[in-house]
Amino acid sequence: MSSPRQNSPTSKDEQLASYRLDNRGKVMTTDQGIPVQDTDNSLKAGARGPTLLEDFHLREKIMRFDHERIPERVVHARGSGAHGYFQVYESLAELTCAEFLADPSVRTPVFVRFSTVQGSRGSADTVRDVRGFATKFYTGQGNFDLVGNNMPVFFIQDGIKFPDFVHALKPEPYHEMPQAASAHDSFWDFVSLAPESMHHVIWLMSDRALPRSFAMMQGFGVHTFRFINAQGTSTFVKFHWKPVLGTHSLVWDEAQKVAGKDPDFNRRDLWDSIEAGNFPEFELGVQLIDEADADRFGFDLLDVTKIIPEEEVPVRPIGRMVLNRNPDNFFAETEQVAFCVQNVVPGIGFTDDPMLQARLFSYLDTQLTRLGGPNFAQIPINRPVAPMHNHQQDGFHADPIPARQANYHPNSISDGSPEPAGDAGYVHYPEIVQGPKIRKRPESFADHYSQATMFWNSMSDWEKRHIVAAYRFELGKVERKHIRQRVVEHLTQIDHGLAVAVAEGIGVQAPAKVGENHDRRSPALSQANMPPDS
Ligand code: HEM
Repeated sequence: MSSPRQNSPTSKDEQLASYRLDNRGKVMTTDQGIPVQDTDNSLKAGARGPTLLEDFHLREKIMRFDHERIPERVVHARGSGAHGYFQVYESLAELTCAEFLADPSVRTPVFVRFSTVQGSRGSADTVRDVRGFATKFYTGQGNFDLVGNNMPVFFIQDGIKFPDFVHALKPEPYHEMPQAASAHDSFWDFVSLAPESMHHVIWLMSDRALPRSFAMMQGFGVHTFRFINAQGTSTFVKFHWKPVLGTHSLVWDEAQKVAGKDPDFNRRDLWDSIEAGNFPEFELGVQLIDEADADRFGFDLLDVTKIIPEEEVPVRPIGRMVLNRNPDNFFAETEQVAFCVQNVVPGIGFTDDPMLQARLFSYLDTQLTRLGGPNFAQIPINRPVAPMHNHQQDGFHADPIPARQANYHPNSISDGSPEPAGDAGYVHYPEIVQGPKIRKRPESFADHYSQATMFWNSMSDWEKRHIVAAYRFELGKVERKHIRQRVVEHLTQIDHGLAVAVAEGIGVQAPAKVGENHDRRSPALSQANMPPDS
């Protein structure tokens, strides 16, 4: 039995290797281990006669083929995975009791899956989209999943809007078009009616949405999480991955051509780099904020549409991740891996960010369907290297054969039944919560434009030109003029020059300039109810 603190990379590699099926030099058998006589000719009554139902090999072979597909992820369906390790630079024990962040000599095994969000499993890599950057750390205290994106903000502030957002983003339900990018009415209709999305949308129109390589993109945990130390003190934390190769993008013209010539462009690059020994490396950094300081920013740390500017809170580098091994099998590993935001280890905790809270439900829930029931943590790629013992049992595809023992707690029948660890186990941060039950967005979430303006102002001239061109290209595909008009009204709130430049390219009226000191806290929704053009 493995020790609870065993978290060297080999322990995960060895665990995975114990499941590896090597068919080389073997006699072909059925799933029941019966040697197969002939796999090219079905059993028939006479050479030209009807095929016999008795042919169990034929039936099993076809049955297994019929059931090869599982549902693709409802979002982030197209992805590429890699194994590697993470190593912290120095102990962070003063901030967190997460043991993998305390010992610089420990190499924690990781599995990373990079993904696009909108397209289906077979879609092209280089479309204009957000990229997922999900990391599973197999730590000695259990799995920690950092399920992030390559952009530091998100489109909406409350998870209850996620199904609407994704319905608007995905191909239209009646004809399943368009399959890529955001160039369609429903996406722009939704985001223009949800002005909170404007910050993320401008990131999406920037070259950040076209990463040249997975090894050349940043990653962000996006939400504010908590570090909790042994004394129970909590510090707010934002996670950042920085690629050692720097952040580089394709330009739009390249991205479109590449999508046609090699839809696997990013996937192939990741695979080939690892095979060639050019291992992608990322530095993990954190922004740390005392809870007592949380109100000093002029925005809410629980609002995922905001970044904390690095000028205000620098990113402290804490460790390095190296991706050095390609998966043995795409389906077994990359497709079956189940990242859950809820997978945290002692020393890492959640905040009240309403997006984070909704995600805590969604991943486990969707994986019940996607991976065929409640036992998906037993799939090799999802198994922790830390030992697991509890009284959960049965369900489809239950692997373990529990020894003869009581299956409930407490019991006086079996000696040595698993016992909760008390305060040595995962302790949820004892945040004090109170307030009336209401459905209301906090006032502190109301500024939807200032950070979009900050992003725009931080761009060089050529980056600005790319952003204008992207808005023009994408909005140019939107049939309904009132939606295009509504978007440029929002752009005026970000930057008047941007709005005018975009308006000119898409045949709508350039909006009037808003006053320098206009109140960004009251979003201009006057256009929301504009009747569609006749
Ligand atoms: C995947 C839901 C917001 C990053 C998924 C999946 C669902 C989901 C259902 C498919 C999971 C699977 O089948 O295994 C949600 C909901 C959100 C939300 C309900 C908002 C309430 C976000 C945000 C981020 C994010 C803000 C980034 C910080 C990802 C990533 C994946 C993913 C990276 C792909 C994981 C993988 O590679 O398997 N999300 N998501 N999601 N989500 Fe979210």
